[in-house]
Amino acid sequence: MSDTVKVGFVPLSQAARGTLVVFADDALKLGKATTKALGAAAALVKRAAATGKFKGKNGSTLDILAPEGVKADRLLVIGTGKAEEIKETDLLKFGGVLAGKLGASADAITVIAELPSTDMTAEQAASVASGVLLRAYKFDRYKTKKKDGEEKAGTVSVSLAVGDVAAAKKAFASDNAVVNGVVIARDLVNEPPNVLFPVEFARRAGELKKLGVTIEVLDVKAMQKLGMGALLGVAQGSANPARIVVMRWNGGKKGEQPIAFIGKGVTFDTGGISIKPAGSMEDMKGDMGGAACVVGLMHALAGRKAKANVIGAIGLVENMPDGNAQRPGDIVTSMSGQTIEIINTDAEGRLVLADVLWYVAKKHKPAFMIDLATLTGAIMVALGTDHAGLFSNNDELATRLATVGQATGERVWRMPLSPDYDKLIDSQFADMKNTGGRYGGSITAAQFLQRFVDGTPWAHLDIAGTAMGAPKTEINQSWGSGYGVRLLDRLVADYYEGKK
Ligand code: BES
Ligand code: MG
Ligand code: ZN
Repeated sequence: MSDTVKVGFVPLSQAARGTLVVFADDALKLGKATTKALGAAAALVKRAAATGKFKGKNGSTLDILAPEGVKADRLLVIGTGKAEEIKETDLLKFGGVLAGKLGASADAITVIAELPSTDMTAEQAASVASGVLLRAYKFDRYKTKKKDGEEKAGTVSVSLAVGDVAAAKKAFASDNAVVNGVVIARDLVNEPPNVLFPVEFARRAGELKKLGVTIEVLDVKAMQKLGMGALLGVAQGSANPARIVVMRWNGGKKGEQPIAFIGKGVTFDTGGISIKPAGSMEDMKGDMGGAACVVGLMHALAGRKAKANVIGAIGLVENMPDGNAQRPGDIVTSMSGQTIEIINTDAEGRLVLADVLWYVAKKHKPAFMIDLATLTGAIMVALGTDHAGLFSNNDELATRLATVGQATGERVWRMPLSPDYDKLIDSQFADMKNTGGRYGGSITAAQFLQRFVDGTPWAHLDIAGTAMGAPKTEINQSWGSGYGVRLLDRLVADYYEGKK
C-alpha cells in the first residue's frame, strides 16, 4: 500500500527532470553546482523567496512549481540556516523534510547534494539519504483500504547528485544497514500483540541468522533449569510461553571480550493482577521497545559488519492476569539467588531484566552491559519524550552515551543512582521488593536493576517516553520510533571498533 522510496547516487552533472531539490543558506546563497544546474532559474529562487517569505531558515522550504529556465517541473529549495552551524542531525532532518514534501509525488526526484558554501561529504550525503528513508517509513500492513483521494502506491526514486558517487555509495552502504535496523525496530514495536507474542518475536529475531548472527533461544524449561524465577513469575499468567533470545555478532578479534545489549521484551503488559486501567492500555503492545531496539541494533551491526564482538539478549514475556498469574505478596527467587517480594505485578520489566542481566553478566562476562527498557511511566513525568533516562554505574560509559546521543539526536539525560534509594526497595519479607513507591519511581527501578549486574560496567536506558508514541519528527512519523538503534550503533562505531 505504501509508496516505496528508493535512494541512489548519481554524478552532479546529471541533468534533472521531475523534481529538483537544492539547498540555500540564510543569505539565500546557493552552491556552485546548484547555481550551474539552475542556470537562469537561479534568479527565480530569489524572486520566489521574496514573495514566499523564505529566508533560508534551517529546515524551511520553498516550493516552486513549473520553474522557468530548467528542465525540472518542480523546484524545492531547502533552507540550511547559517552554513557554519549545520550539524550532522540537520542533514538527516533535511532528508526528512524533503521526503515529507515530496513523498506522495510519483516523479523522479533529484537532490543536488551540495551545501551552499561547501561540497557535501560522502557521509553528509549518506545522512540525507538516511533521512529520506527514515521519514518515508510507514507501517500500513494491516490496512486493506486506501483513504479517499489517496494516490495509487508507486515507487518514488530519490537520486542524490554528488561529486563522488563511489564514495557516497560506500558511506551509504553502512548507513543503510543502520536505517534497516531502525525499520526492523519500528516494525516490531508497531506490530499488534496478538501477532507478536514471545515465540513469534523469537522467530523474527532468528532472521538475523541470514546476516551471520548466531542465535540461541532459551525456552521455559531451560529458564527453569537456570532458576530464573523472577522472569518466569511474570510469564506464568500468560498462555504464551516466555523466551530469551541471545544473539551474537562476532565481528571483532577472536576471543576479545564482548559488549552486551539487553532489552525488555514484554510483548503485552496488562499489568497482571495489578491490572492497568483501560485507557490507552493498547499502547502496552509497545512494551517490548527495548527488545526491538536490540534486534534492530544487531541487524545494523551485522549488516555493516561492525568490527566488534557483540551480544544482544532479550527477555520476552507477556504480562497477563489469569488463574495462574503471579500475585502481589508472592516471593520469587531470581537466578542470582536474591529473593524478591512482589508488591505490584505491573512492575514486571525489572523482574524480567533481573534474570537476563544476571545471566548475561555471569555467562558472557561482557566489558559492559547496556539495557533498554520501557520501564517506568515516571521517566516520562521526569523527562518527557525528548530524552531517554540514563542510569549508570560507570562515568565513562555514561559520558560516551551522552556524546553519541548529541551526535545522533537520540538524546539521553543522566539520572542519579545512589545507595540512599535502597531503603525504598527493602522488603520486610524478602531481600527486596519490586516497587519503591511513587517518589523517584524511575530511580528505584534502576536501583533494583543494579542489584543484578554483578559489578559489570552497566548503563540502563529507560525508554518509556522515547520508544513509542512520542511526537512525530522530520525523520519519524511512526508510533514506534526505533529509538536507540542509531544511538547504540554509533556508540559501537565511535568507541568499540578499535578507532578510539
Ligand atoms: N511498561 C510499564 C511502563 C510504561 C508506562 C511504559 C507507560 C510506557 C508507557 C511498566 O511495566 C510499568 O507498568 N511500570 C509501572 C511501575 C509501577 C507499578 C511501580 C509504572 O510506571 O507505573
Ligand atoms: Mg508494567
Ligand atoms: Zn511494562
